[in-house]
Amino acid sequence: MKRPWLIGGAAIVVIGLLGMVAFGWRMAIAPIARPAVASFAPAQIARGEVLASAGYCATCHTAKGGAVLAGGYPMKTPFGTIYSTNITPDSETGIGTWSLAAFRRAMHEGVARDGSHLFPAFPYDHFTRLTDGDVADLYAFLMTRPAIKAPPKSNTIPFPLNLRLLQAGWKLLYFKPGRFTPDASKDAAWNRGAYLVEGISHCSACHTPRGALGAENKDKAYAGALVDHWIAPPLTGANPSPVPWGADELVAYLGTGVSRYHGVAAGPMGPVSHGLSKLPPADLKAVAAYLTSLNGAAGKSAAGAPAIGQALATDRSGTGLQYDAAARLYTAACASCHYNSGKEPNPLRPDLALNSAVNMDDPRNLIRVILYGVDAADGIPGVVMPGFARGFSNADVGRIANYVRATRTSRPAWTDLEQKVATIRAEGRGQEQ
Ligand code: HEC
Ligand code: HEC
Ligand code: HEC
Repeated sequence: MKRPWLIGGAAIVVIGLLGMVAFGWRMAIAPIARPAVASFAPAQIARGEVLASAGYCATCHTAKGGAVLAGGYPMKTPFGTIYSTNITPDSETGIGTWSLAAFRRAMHEGVARDGSHLFPAFPYDHFTRLTDGDVADLYAFLMTRPAIKAPPKSNTIPFPLNLRLLQAGWKLLYFKPGRFTPDASKDAAWNRGAYLVEGISHCSACHTPRGALGAENKDKAYAGALVDHWIAPPLTGANPSPVPWGADELVAYLGTGVSRYHGVAAGPMGPVSHGLSKLPPADLKAVAAYLTSLNGAAGKSAAGAPAIGQALATDRSGTGLQYDAAARLYTAACASCHYNSGKEPNPLRPDLALNSAVNMDDPRNLIRVILYGVDAADGIPGVVMPGFARGFSNADVGRIANYVRATRTSRPAWTDLEQKVATIRAEGRGQEQ
């Protein structure tokens, strides 16, 4: 039987594929000999170091216990695990043979030196906003790091999603390349903040929910999202904190990892505040200027907010009925450290009434903190909150969470706590800690 239409169909498929190859095709950029360290000015390297810190390059490009920037850090996606690459200047396994033009194309377009498309687990959709000058500074910093031989690890993305050419389609749908364009109606600080937040520091990569194909949902910018088993709270007016996130508090939290009127930067936010701590004070203020335009707290000060007085009064009134099992648990496990008696919350003892983890609709972050604690490396330098995963059953952790919620907020009680604790316990601590 003749089926000429089959040939026609096949021809269309072939033409379609050829079209895609043509569309997705990128030239390789010729390899170079590794540039000499002395060819970069020390001031440029220093600027690149600050940018690399504010872009958390080392957080994603360093495997646990591995050499800094040598790659191999696993990023779990719904489609499989993608490993970061070696971005030290090793000529065989790193980016030692990459010219500035090749590096710039990777940062601005998500294309590797050999012409293959990179996965958006690498936040090039934000780095595309960077000026050529900033990209050159980053290049100077990376090219002057020690070259480490570390071959890439194989991703576990299944066929056909592992075809890098398909990323061209993803880019067509979701990627808007282009440098940051200042908003002339806003002042210089706001524009500087927007440049940092949207570009190098890619805050929305965690704080904006993503759609089915992993792209940020721009209609819900900064509305809060689940990331690595944590909730990155909304940075909009929907933020649940009882005290406004005004500029001073943002500068303190982002630059030092703690705000006395809110809490600490734990989980995936820990490395973010470490990274931002290298920014000069004027840049942190600029970031805060931009953020307070998103959350409506511009010009608002946390100090003196009524919620603070209320929180301290609750602490002073004690834990209530000691024959209540939940109150007893709380007193034994938490009260000794989270009790504030002065006129102001002690920044070394986060006040639970003021903490977003206690005020959110979802108890996830609070349960994580109770189970796994907060490392010395995160939040307040040198201070540790112990984890209670071993000491308490799921039911007990649930009771404590419920008790804190009921006594510290007037928000609706959480439901199914024991089940939620079981789920979060099964997830484990996570690689980020
Ligand atoms: C959120 C995690 C993350 C952050 C932050 C990050 N990267 Fe990456 N990067 C990746 C991943 C994952 C890849 C590999 C992507 C792939 O295989 O398609 C990658 C790839 C790259 C590549 C391509 C290298 C190659 O061999 O193909 C360069 C260059 C790069 N990153 C530079 C940087 C720089 C510079 C920074 C900091 C400004 C940075 N990255 C921050 C995750 C990250
Ligand atoms: C890698 C993911 C990630 C990135 C990138 C990130 N955040 Fe976060 N952020 C989180 C998580 C998770 C939390 C919750 C931390 C906690 O509960 O201790 C958080 C908490 C916060 C909070 C505290 C909110 C509250 O109500 O308690 C602020 C403010 C914040 N982030 C701002 C930023 C800014 C500004 C940037 C960019 C400069 C940024 N974040 C980048 C994940 C991230
Ligand atoms: C040994 C003292 C200690 C005990 C006991 C303790 N905490 Fe903490 N807690 C801390 C410290 C210190 C921090 C700040 C951690 C940091 O910066 O490293 C903290 C942080 C927190 C945070 C803020 C997390 C954030 O992301 O902002 C919450 C919520 C919390 N603790 C709840 C509890 C609960 C509930 C209990 C009882 C089950 C408890 N803590 C027991 C010392 C303690």
